[in-house]
Amino acid sequence: MSKNIPEKLKMLITHKSPVSLQPIQQSVRVQFNYDVHFTNGLFDLDNPLLAQVIAVDGEIKPKKLLVVVDEGLLKHHQRLLTKISIYAKFYEEAITLSQQPITIPGGESVKNEPKFVEQIHQLIDAGGLCRHSYVLAIGGGAFLDMVGYAAATAHRGIRLLRVPTTVLGQNDSGVGVKNGINAFGKKNFLGTFMPPYAVLNDFDFLTSLDDRDWRSGIAEAVKVALIKDANFFDSITTDADKLAHRDMKAMEKLIYRCAQLHLEHIATSGDPFEKGSSRPLDFGHWAAHKLEQITNYKLRHGEAVAIGIALDSTYSYLIGLLTESEWQNILATLKRLGFTLYVSALTEQLHQPDHPHNLFNGLTEFREHLGGQLTITLLQGIGQGIEVHQVDLSVYREAISMLQT
Ligand SMILES: NC(=O)c1ccc[n+]([C@@H]2O[C@H](COP(=O)([O-])OP(=O)(O)OC[C@H]3O[C@@H](n4cnc5c(N)ncnc54)[C@H](O)[C@@H]3O)[C@@H](O)[C@H]2O)c1
Ligand SMILES: [Zn+2]
Repeated sequence: MSKNIPEKLKMLITHKSPVSLQPIQQSVRVQFNYDVHFTNGLFDLDNPLLAQVIAVDGEIKPKKLLVVVDEGLLKHHQRLLTKISIYAKFYEEAITLSQQPITIPGGESVKNEPKFVEQIHQLIDAGGLCRHSYVLAIGGGAFLDMVGYAAATAHRGIRLLRVPTTVLGQNDSGVGVKNGINAFGKKNFLGTFMPPYAVLNDFDFLTSLDDRDWRSGIAEAVKVALIKDANFFDSITTDADKLAHRDMKAMEKLIYRCAQLHLEHIATSGDPFEKGSSRPLDFGHWAAHKLEQITNYKLRHGEAVAIGIALDSTYSYLIGLLTESEWQNILATLKRLGFTLYVSALTEQLHQPDHPHNLFNGLTEFREHLGGQLTITLLQGIGQGIEVHQVDLSVYREAISMLQT
């Protein structure tokens, strides 16, 4: 036992309480399997993928499906709702819609207002969905987080089919096991860990993204490459100009590898539901989450992550973990991808420790969200993350002023 543990706590841990009956020791193992598919034209009648995913669950009857679509997506794909209805009719042996597909706003604001979760709950109730039914959510990462939370909490869990339609959704948020909404001014304060039934990534949706959302998701790929896979980082650097100019083949390659690395981490880290204090996939995120909040979500998640990566890479360089050329390579790649690496929100309240918009409060909030001791991932080389439990704020101040200049 560590000698830092206070005497009284040591006694508590070692002392056997007087009991008349021994505790019953319970142990439950739960295995989750889900596939992440990659396709084009998901709702074309000659694409049976969705119907097949639903049909193979072993039940003979058609399965009930509630379809909810991100309004921001629908603006660019106006025939989508009709296409889904025609698709469901065509594959009626597998699918019955509980009602006509409906739309709900997308973007971060949908996570800030609890009424949308309630709306999904009402639709699940009115449609008579059960645990063998499906909620099919089609939209960006924020929309999927909100719908996923509603699906996970109705009847203690309705099957969720995710169709992510942004880069970030397809390569990160949509393929993982988390969902949630914001509350008390904090990101993802309410949420659950609940793996989806399946994920269907349709690259065709990405063509209508605006440039900011196209770019934003690339930050998550840079993040996971930097902590896990130097070759992947090299390939992002090589493809940076193509990616910045919306080359779809380069983007498909990036999304596939990024999704694969996220999925591998969830499957093999030994902590898929983040019960420990560490969360390496959140490299660059302590600052990113705070910046999103300070800017009232004007910064996209991925844009904030790019700044967070630049900041934590600069810090890693300043404390001698990264060489100057590695550090410069990271910043240059982010810039070639089109990211801005300094925003005034980094510095605005930095000298007022108690101000809610002080960036460094992001460290405390990050620790609180995870529980346990502060654990930040830094880089000790490209492709190699390292966890630290203490940071030097004066070095962070220096890192911020380096980004500024
Ligand atoms: N659950 C997780 O593990 C996890 C991981 C990372 C990020 N996230 C969350 O994901 C969210 C960010 O997701 P995002 O980057 O996808 O942004 P987003 O969901 O905010 O979408 C951005 C905008 O694009 C619109 N849109 C969606 N698809 C479109 C398309 N194909 N064409 C045109 N417009 C489209 C949306 O309506 C929205 O206005 C954040 O809330 C973040 O916290 C969750
Ligand atoms: Zn992220």
